[in-house]
Amino acid sequence: MRLDKYIASVTDLSRKQARQCIREGRVVVDATLAAAHQLQLCPENAVFLDGTPLRSPGFRYFMLHKPPGVICATHDSHHTTAIDLLQVEQREKLQIAGRLDIDTTGLVLLTDDGQWNHRLTSPRHQCVKEYLVTTSEAISATAIDRLSQGVTLLPENRLTRPARVELLDSRRARIFLSEGRYHQVKRMFAAVGNAVTSLHRSAVGNIRLDETLQPGEYRPLEPAEVDAIQ
Ligand code: URA
Repeated sequence: MRLDKYIASVTDLSRKQARQCIREGRVVVDATLAAAHQLQLCPENAVFLDGTPLRSPGFRYFMLHKPPGVICATHDSHHTTAIDLLQVEQREKLQIAGRLDIDTTGLVLLTDDGQWNHRLTSPRHQCVKEYLVTTSEAISATAIDRLSQGVTLLPENRLTRPARVELLDSRRARIFLSEGRYHQVKRMFAAVGNAVTSLHRSAVGNIRLDETLQPGEYRPLEPAEVDAIQ
């Protein structure tokens, strides 16, 4: 959609006023000042007016406390899916913003806003995810050091970004990752000779799992939580 049309569709401004805002340098698309109202937007573009992210009214955003045994997929004939747990209308339109393994518990975000999902999950935005990890063996200082520098994951043979690791006790740690590769936490610990026995996601960016949500429960995000992903 054209930039001026998009701004008019999600604000009270007319297209003429939207074009005026663009001329006045008040509109930024991703990190770049918008120069032309004819700019064609892609679904993943984030548009800001006077520094405030614009989003279309009517989009829905939820946080789910995922229990173990539930899979992060839209359909599955054998398992309950994260979408199945949401008793909301048109739940088939929801996308899962960052999947967890079947045995991983914790924060799963769901939305029908494709741009927001993209900002949360695209490698370019480097949104930090926080996990609580328990391992089979003691987590050594050497392992923390290696994880903090980045480890090479097989089979792609590619180095991870540095992770922040906070040791909680001998076999439990908090790990903060700014990327989301397949089975990343488990593979990072395997790379340093340890095995993950339980994994829980407690936060994505500035959105923390609401501690009042029991496993399997969900709630809509607060506007401030939605706006925290830019
Ligand atoms: N890393 C994993 O290994 N599994 C998850 O579910 C999430 C991150």
